[in-house]
Amino acid sequence: MRRPVRPRRTARLLPGPNRGYGNSMIGRLNHVGVATPSIDASVALYRDLLGATKAHAPFDLPAQGVRVCFIDLPNSQIELIEPLGDDSPIHGFLAKNPKGGQHHICFEVEDILAARDALRARGATILGTGEPRIGAHGTPILFLHPKDMGGVLVELMETPPKTPTDGAH
Ligand code: CO
Repeated sequence: MRRPVRPRRTARLLPGPNRGYGNSMIGRLNHVGVATPSIDASVALYRDLLGATKAHAPFDLPAQGVRVCFIDLPNSQIELIEPLGDDSPIHGFLAKNPKGGQHHICFEVEDILAARDALRARGATILGTGEPRIGAHGTPILFLHPKDMGGVLVELMETPPKTPTDGAH
């Protein structure tokens, strides 16, 4: 007699070249990037509609042409991104999405260069020069081209020494 099939309740590793967590495996979801024409208006929206309780002070990243503001969630963050300067890469996104919208997702990796090399070897395209830049959290970051990622712009960020959501994880 066949035993009834029960849905799996535990996560399992997917078959692939990189079982388990190695230096080139994605780690925690660090944040979701959300482009907005107004950080102030978005902070108010997350506070008043969703009940967010902690927004950090906005700050400029001139090298990347953006002004950013992080909103803390229990397990991650929202990165609000506003254009900074005429050459901001966010202007094009906002031209297509005037009210703003979900822009990228950011995963932590243990070693940004190992992750880059492994991803390139698997056919991914790294945006820009391929050399990591220092991101909003002060750690090296890279972006993967959405064409290789099902249309999703993915930021990789070297795991910071300490994050606001540390403690419960
Ligand atoms: Co980001």
